[in-house]
Amino acid sequence: MSANMVAMAYLAAAVLFILALKGLSSPVSARRGNLFGMLGMALAVGVTLSIAGTHSYLWIFIAVLIGGGTGTLIARSIPMTHMPQLVAAMHSLVGLAAVMIAASALYNPQAYGIAAADGSLHIASRIELFLGTFIGAITFTASVVAFAKLQGLVSGRPLVFPGQHLVNLLLGIIMIGSGVVFCMTGEWTPFLIMTGIALVLGVLLIVPIGGADMPVVVSMLNSYSGWAAAGIGFTLSNNMLIVSGALVGSSGAILSYIMCRAMNRSLFNVLMGGFGAVAGSSSGGAREERPYHTGAAEDAAFMLQNAESVIIIPGYGLAVARAQHALKEVADVLTAAGVKVRFAIHPVAGRMPGHMNVLLAEADVPYDAVQEMDEINPEFAETDVALVIGANDVTNPSAKTDPTSSIYGMPILDVDKARHVIFIKRSMAAGYAGLDNDLFYMDKTMMLFSDAKKACEDMLHALK
Ligand code: TAP
Repeated sequence: MSANMVAMAYLAAAVLFILALKGLSSPVSARRGNLFGMLGMALAVGVTLSIAGTHSYLWIFIAVLIGGGTGTLIARSIPMTHMPQLVAAMHSLVGLAAVMIAASALYNPQAYGIAAADGSLHIASRIELFLGTFIGAITFTASVVAFAKLQGLVSGRPLVFPGQHLVNLLLGIIMIGSGVVFCMTGEWTPFLIMTGIALVLGVLLIVPIGGADMPVVVSMLNSYSGWAAAGIGFTLSNNMLIVSGALVGSSGAILSYIMCRAMNRSLFNVLMGGFGAVAGSSSGGAREERPYHTGAAEDAAFMLQNAESVIIIPGYGLAVARAQHALKEVADVLTAAGVKVRFAIHPVAGRMPGHMNVLLAEADVPYDAVQEMDEINPEFAETDVALVIGANDVTNPSAKTDPTSSIYGMPILDVDKARHVIFIKRSMAAGYAGLDNDLFYMDKTMMLFSDAKKACEDMLHALK
């Protein structure tokens, strides 16, 4: 394949990746976006293999078979609720790959075509390796810890100790110092010191982060893994890797920013960690014994049937119970009876960006019935019933009223403004941020203790 053809094919793949990102920005076009991404990746991999000039296609084929097979198995079996940890696990592999490629390039610069006349590495390549390696190493261990936290293998709570930021700063300085020495000498010793410290830093940077900040961290790791790949793309002189790495790096950074804005936090504040570590906020401490109203599915059905307008607020519990199809049926019956039914989506409801959109799309809920937080919030005051199903934090008024609450400042869905509120969950237990919710105890609230799917089926039965 001529160099021009390769460049054209890479350009086409880059355009497909950009179209993929554009498609993924809306549930309506997300499937098409995925298709563009797959086509772009197939083109990029195919062209790269055709120019690799390798005699070991068999090994590549075996690796693709193992990787592709494992990927297919995981994709088919992973529950939607475990996506964040899967994504974290994937990022760890990208980070590790960046470190491995850098080490092999340092071991044999000739094989990568980056050797100077004396056989050592070019200074420019050393700088690229330095950047790719330390970002890759931090991404690797940070992603492994994020995976362990999200999977529940270690505590998800932030781990803070005195002098933490100072230790990180010192390690960061030594790491960059070793990197600079490596750039000047091209020796293994500073390379290994730099890589070792970066691996430790990855752990230290992530352990103080917990609670509701994990999605932002996973998205930041996504961004880091992209930059690590782009750095290595320079070493391998592969434009495709540079472009796709930069796309992943920048889209991950933009997503992190959007999520921070949704939680009313700064990125700096998230990355400094410690969020949710301080127990004893007024809403996070020992649970008070306060009276609350309970009801059955039949009561909920009666209220819904007699309402003119209903807003449904789905949350993490809907995903756990896989109740979206039953919920859609409830919404259909109500709509057929003349009730105005809409779905309200909080940007961080569930456990991953767009989680609720995916669930509702899966159940064929029409897109025009689904409204984002800013759009629907003014509507709550005019709404008869807010039906909260498996959601908790995203409705918690302490985010607006209690400066000591760990989610203070996070924008929430204004469920407290609706005339009546029905909460479907299994108990009075807290949600992800570990906070009690004042909304449970309001006079206008009815708690319906049940699994979300069972509650929907029971309501459906009562409605019919
Ligand atoms: P949460 O605040 O986590 O509340 C979910 C509620 O669902 C729980 O209180 C739980 O109460 C209930 N539940 C669990 N299983 C259920 C089932 N089978 N049937 C019925 N209810 C069930 O969820 P949310 O309101 O969606 O808020 C999301 C939280 O996760 C936020 O704090 C957010 O910052 C964080 N987070 C978000 C993301 C992204 S990007 N979306 C990623 C990670 C974390 P019971 O146990 O009493 O049933």
